[in-house]
Amino acid sequence: MKILVVGSGGREHALAWKIAQSERIQMVYVAPGNGGTASDSRLENMPLSDPAALALFAQREHIALTVVGPETPLAAGIVDLFREKGLKIFGPTKQAAQLESSKDFAKAFMQRHGIPTARYQTFTDSAAAHAYIDQHGAPIVIKADGLAAGKGVVVAMEIGEAHAAIDMMLSDNQLGNAGARVVIEEFLEGEEASFIVMVDGKNILPLATSQDHKRLADHDQGPNTGGMGAYSPAPIVTPALHARVMREIIIPTVQGMAKDGIPFTGFLYAGLMIDKAGNAKTLEFNCRMGDPETQPIMARLKTDLVTVIEHAVAGTLDTIELEWDRRTALGVVMAAAGYPDAPRGGDIISGIPAETTDCVTFHAGTRQVDGKLITAGGRVLCVVGLGDSVKMAQKQAYEAVDQIAFEGAQFRRDIGWRAVKRPA
Ligand code: AMP
Ligand code: GLY
Repeated sequence: MKILVVGSGGREHALAWKIAQSERIQMVYVAPGNGGTASDSRLENMPLSDPAALALFAQREHIALTVVGPETPLAAGIVDLFREKGLKIFGPTKQAAQLESSKDFAKAFMQRHGIPTARYQTFTDSAAAHAYIDQHGAPIVIKADGLAAGKGVVVAMEIGEAHAAIDMMLSDNQLGNAGARVVIEEFLEGEEASFIVMVDGKNILPLATSQDHKRLADHDQGPNTGGMGAYSPAPIVTPALHARVMREIIIPTVQGMAKDGIPFTGFLYAGLMIDKAGNAKTLEFNCRMGDPETQPIMARLKTDLVTVIEHAVAGTLDTIELEWDRRTALGVVMAAAGYPDAPRGGDIISGIPAETTDCVTFHAGTRQVDGKLITAGGRVLCVVGLGDSVKMAQKQAYEAVDQIAFEGAQFRRDIGWRAVKRPA
């Protein structure tokens, strides 16, 4: 069978890589793909990203199943379009994708269904927003309602930053429509974890636990990024906490969406804040897999992903179980010079080691030009190591990272530090 993966990042490379391992696969197309998916003989890039063009391609090529990586096509309604044409696709409808594409929708949904999250209020009027900030003080968190490519959240430690964020979003319209409505919410303290499940509208199949690192520099310093590394499993998510998150957050979310008449299908990602006492609150929902969490998670998945997604599309996720590699997988992101504000492209990449059972390198912002691999985006590579402990996985990943070179490469040396520090 032929499968189509939509997207061009490290997440999509990892999904396509895993799908291509299925014995039932004839071809995996990645649209538009990257330099890594271009050079893998089991994958083929398609220079398409418009949902209508993708649907035509899927019809013409008799694509059996489409999997969508990023949120933008989901929020634009790619799933609705494919379903209208009778094409099988795994992801949420446009309406269900609002869990990610509208913070106000997500917050109102959580409040309505009693799902733990930070207290909040939504504003379109800047004077009212400024007054609310003065009343509540800092720290406080300002979020643009819509999708803003990672620029929509300001965690204001000082009240001045909070007022500036309101000016930026509501008065100066710097985020356009996405920032024309803002959510202001209570600052939460604790440790973050990514909780990702597959949903078929009713049944829920949790993936292995994971945690990512958002800050650019070691010791969680520097600006927030899309993610500088991730690992799986995440020891902070103990079996007891896992059960609680399922009971208090994931199950009520899936049941609440169904009750509201917008059943959720696709990957559902709850970004959690876990406090010292072990209580989890929802920071945000994503209606897709995490990047870079997908890379270590796929490196550990042993079950045939095609079969799993077929069950998800058929509504029979309750009939299968997932099998995981018991080792830890740890992914180190290598980012371009200038990332995250102004990543530079065009640097030649060398030294990527061949894949082994202990290490695999997924591409994100890379491109093949005249037989050379060059940087073409902020996050360039995610190098995943596997090992019997977090330390061993780290060692595998960094041995590979140290062989790879491109001008201005930025990466952290401490991915996994929280898991290393945590008592067994
Ligand atoms: P979001 O896109 O909503 O996950 O926000 C991006 C990042 O901002 C999160 O991963 C957290 O690090 C931080 N953040 C979001 N909401 C809060 C909050 N209520 N309290 C503290 N930090 C937050
Ligand atoms: N790793 C965070 C995200 O995918 O949103």
